[in-house]
Order: sequence, then structure tokens, then C-alpha cells
Amino acid sequence: MKPILEATSVSKHYGVFKALQDVTLPFYENEIVAIVGPNGAGKTTFVNVLTGLLKPTSGEVHFLGNSIAGVGPVKLAQLGMARAFQLVQIFPQLTVEETIMSAVISQRNTQYNFWSQAAGQTEMVERAFEVAKIFNLDKKMDWQASYLSQGEKKLLDIASAFALSPQVILLDEPTSGISTADKRGIMDTLMTAAKLAGIKTMLLVEHDMELVAEYSTRIVALAEGKLLADLPPKEFFASEELQAKIIGKRVQHA
Ligand SMILES: Nc1ncnc2c1ncn2[C@@H]1O[C@H](COP(=O)(O)OP(=O)(O)OP(=O)(O)O)[C@@H](O)[C@H]1O
Ligand SMILES: [Mg+2]
Repeated sequence: MKPILEATSVSKHYGVFKALQDVTLPFYENEIVAIVGPNGAGKTTFVNVLTGLLKPTSGEVHFLGNSIAGVGPVKLAQLGMARAFQLVQIFPQLTVEETIMSAVISQRNTQYNFWSQAAGQTEMVERAFEVAKIFNLDKKMDWQASYLSQGEKKLLDIASAFALSPQVILLDEPTSGISTADKRGIMDTLMTAAKLAGIKTMLLVEHDMELVAEYSTRIVALAEGKLLADLPPKEFFASEELQAKIIGKRVQHA
């Protein structure tokens, strides 16, 4: 089977600092890939390179066989890839509805531009509500994003990525800043939303190993910019040594 998304010998240097070193990873349909690793391992850098936001120092990224070097977020969405950020990126002045609508519009423009404007608009508003409802934001459609809680802002960013109906979605720490009790709820929502949206492949950066164990089909571990492991969860969690490396070395005090 051909990979849907593929990183080939990707390195990313910031000056002399090597944030990513020679990472080669193919990703396939029907995978939920957890990207794990200690703080500073290069996870966000990797997501940024995979989504074309950062140009790798060397190596290549291919999405559906095409190089995505230098592809901006709009073109990326049109090709069928979307992402949500570790630190939320939303326009504080826009309402929830406007935020989700702008994602729906940019997706619809590529696929349904032959529709009459009126019919298209009703359908797009409905779609925006549908996505908002999945993420429990439908009661706050006319709220300005700046008035949302941190967790709700995070959800809005994720909802906007889902509204693009991508084939592949990358989520950088979707559950960070969300209370432990709600994390599972968010993950269930993500899984349901992915099915509804017809998303083929999901990559998510996640620190919570219980969630990783429960929801991923494959675990990619990075440490100090290098690929440390690429394993099914069962094999990954069978290795104490691997888990210790991922959680980060702890200094033992006597
Ligand atoms: N723009 C930049 N300039 C210089 N160094 C950077 C830059 N962005 C990231 N780095 C460094 O690269 C390394 C990897 O950062 P990255 O954000 O990819 O880590 P991460 O695995 O996502 O960590 P976290 O779990 O804390 O989010 C870090 O040491 C970081 O300080
Ligand atoms: Mg990060």
C-alpha cells in the first residue's frame, strides 16, 4: 500500500541545533498515529515540517505523492490535509460561527463552486453548525472567540481543522490544557468526528500515555530529534526502557 503522507530523510536545524535528524516515516490510511517524546524532542517541529509550515533543512515530504514543500495552509487544505496547533491559533475578534464558517467556505470553494450561491450558503451554515455541535460549541456560535475558555479555544481550533474535511489531520497536543476528566471525552469526540468527516489518517502529538495506549494504532517516538521507535502500542508498552525514555529522564534524589 502506498503511503498517504511520507517524510523522507527529514532534518531540521535551527542554526547549529539539530531539532530533527534524518527522520523517515511513511503514514498510511486507517492509522491513528501517536507522536510521543519528551519536551523538546522535535514533535512540533516534525508536525510543522509535515504540514509544510517549516521547510526542512534537508529531506522531503510527500502528500498523496506530491511534494508539499512551500505549500501554504490554504493550498494544503485544498489538497486534503489540515492541522490544529499546540498553541491555539484563532482570530479573537471572530465569532465561533465565523471561525468555523471560514474553514467550511475554503473547503467548499474547492469542491462545490458550481453551486448557486444561496443554496451553497444555507448548506455551509448547516455544516458549520454540525461541526460546532460535535465539539459542543453550537450553543456559543455568536460568541467572540476571545471570550471562550482556553479549552473551548482549543476545541474551536480543532473544529476548524475538522471543518476542512481533510483526508489527513494532524493534531498537536489536542488534549493539553483540558482537565484530566475531560480528556477522554475529547478523544472520543475526535474519533467520532474523524469517522463522520471521512478522515483517513490521524496523527496526534500526545503526552498522556494512557490516552496513547487507548486510542492509537501506532506509536512513533522521537527523542532529541531522532526516531527512537515506530511500533504498535502493544509492543511499545512492552518495553519499560522505551517508556522511561519517552516520559523523560528523572533525576533520582537519595
Ligand atoms: N524557531 C526555533 N528556533 C530555535 N530552536 C527551536 C525553534 N523551534 C523549536 N526549537 C527547538 O527545537 C527543539 C524541538 O522543539 P519542538 O517544539 O519541536 O519540541 P516538542 O517535542 O514539540 O516539545 P513539547 O513537548 O515541549 O511541545 C527544542 O529544543 C526547541 O527549543
Ligand atoms: Mg510541541
